[in-house]
Amino acid sequence: MRILSGIQPSGALHLGNYFGMMRPAIELQNQGDAYIFIADYHSMTSLFDAAQRRRNTMDVALDFLACGLDAQRTVLFRQSDVPEHCELTWLLSTITPMGLLERCHSYKDKVAHGIAVNHGLFAYPVLMAADILIYDSNVVPVGRDQKQHVEVTRDIAIKFNETYGETFVLPEPRIRDEVAVVPGTDGQKMSKSYGNTVEIFGDEKAQRKKIMSIVMDSRTPQEPKPDADQNSAIRLLKLVAPAAVADDIENRLRAGGFGYGDLKKALFEHYWNFFAEARARRRELEANLDHVEATLRSGAERARTVAAATLKRARRACGLE
Ligand code: ADP
Ligand code: TRP
Repeated sequence: MRILSGIQPSGALHLGNYFGMMRPAIELQNQGDAYIFIADYHSMTSLFDAAQRRRNTMDVALDFLACGLDAQRTVLFRQSDVPEHCELTWLLSTITPMGLLERCHSYKDKVAHGIAVNHGLFAYPVLMAADILIYDSNVVPVGRDQKQHVEVTRDIAIKFNETYGETFVLPEPRIRDEVAVVPGTDGQKMSKSYGNTVEIFGDEKAQRKKIMSIVMDSRTPQEPKPDADQNSAIRLLKLVAPAAVADDIENRLRAGGFGYGDLKKALFEHYWNFFAEARARRRELEANLDHVEATLRSGAERARTVAAATLKRARRACGLE
C-alpha cells in the first residue's frame, strides 16, 4: 500500500494539522510505503515572501521529524526537489474540465472572501492531483477539508485513463472521524487563516494565553453543564489528555461546581505535556540543520526515482514519447 500526504509550508503548524493530518500520516508509516512532502510549490499560490517560504519549509521538516516521522521508513521530501510534479500537472491540466475546478470549495471560499485569486490558486487541485498520481498512491491521509481535492484527483485520473488508456492508480482519502475537524479557540475549525490556532511548538506563554482565551459561554462554575462535551476546550482536552482524565473533567462539568477556568488550565497542562518529548527532540534537530537538509535531499532522491518512472508512463500514454 502506498500512502502519501503533503502539507504547505505556509506558517506554524497547529493542533488541527497535527491531529487531522500529521499524526494519522505518521502512524501509517508502519502499514505501508509512506511518502510525506512539503508542498512548497503549492505555497506559492498564497505566500509571496521567499525567505519566509525557505524558513517555513525547514520548520515543517523539523516539526514532522520531531513528531515521530522516521525518515528511514517514510520518504520525506520537498515538493520542488521533484520537478516532475510540474510536468505531470501540465499533462493533467489538458484533460481537466474547467467546471471541475470551478466547483472546488477552497477556491470558491477564497473568491467569496474577496481574496485576489491567481491562476495557480485555480489550478491548485491539478497540481495536487499530480502530487498524488505520480506516486501511484493508494491512500491519502488528510483532514476533511481536503476530501474534495482527493475526489477531484480521482476524477482527473479516470478522465486521463479513459482518454489515453490505463495509466494511473485511483487514490482514496483517509479521514479519521474523531479528528476530522479540530476546533480552534473561537469554536470554528482551527486554521491559520482564522487566527484561532494553538501551535504545536509555539512559545509557552503565547500558547497559554491562547488556551485561556478559548471562547466559552457565560455560565458560572456552579451551574451544571449537560452539554459539557460540546465546547472547544473539552474537545481539545480529549485529544491531548488520557481518556480517564478527560472523562472525569467532563463529568465534573456536567455535575456543576467545576468552572471553565479550571478546564482551560487542565487543557494547557495536558497540551504542554503531550508535546514535551517532541519539543525536546525538535531542539536537538534544530542544532543540526545540515542533517535535516540532508534528510530532505535523500528523500527527494528516493521520491524522484518513482516520480520519473510514472511521468514516463504518462508521457508515453499520451504520445509524447
Ligand atoms: P490551515 O487551515 O491552517 O491553512 P492547511 O489547510 O494547510 O491548514 O491543512 C494542512 C492539513 O491539516 C490538511 O490535511 C488539513 O485537512 C489538516 N487540517 C488543518 N486544519 C485542520 C483542523 N482544524 N482539523 C482537522 N484537520 C485539519
Ligand atoms: N492541499 C493540501 C493542504 O492544503 C496540501 C497538499 C498538496 C496535499 N498536495 C497534496 C495533501 C497531496 C495530500 C496529497 O493541506
